[in-house]
Amino acid sequence: MPFQVTIENTGETFRCSEEVNVLQAMEHSRCNGIPVGCRNGGCGACKVRVTEGHYVSRKMNRAVVSADEEAQGCVLACRLYPQGDINVKAMGRAWGAAKVHKSVSFSLDFARPAQVFQPDKET
Ligand code: FES
Repeated sequence: MPFQVTIENTGETFRCSEEVNVLQAMEHSRCNGIPVGCRNGGCGACKVRVTEGHYVSRKMNRAVVSADEEAQGCVLACRLYPQGDINVKAMGRAWGAAKVHKSVSFSLDFARPAQVFQPDKET
């Protein structure tokens, strides 16, 4: 059963099932309130704080989300799976540097062309 995800920064809402990560569901829904980068838990572009609701997260790069931040609800949207309706607030570095317009989408794929993140190895 899909849940509702609300991005507080933009007011965008979209549906996301518990088997799909929030970033993937956001892109599929053509929303863009969360910056997109590697899509693999490594770059930190999609960092959000879950302000409301239950969720599970998968392994994240500790260089971009510390254990303390994770304990306070910070997760990477590409590693975030809702367990009910959730609200998130985008926090990645790109969010502060860019004004996201609802009709504009951007990607940070160019930022780390030679680096490969291995999600099974905790850093
Ligand atoms: S998009 Fe790079 S960590 Fe999520």
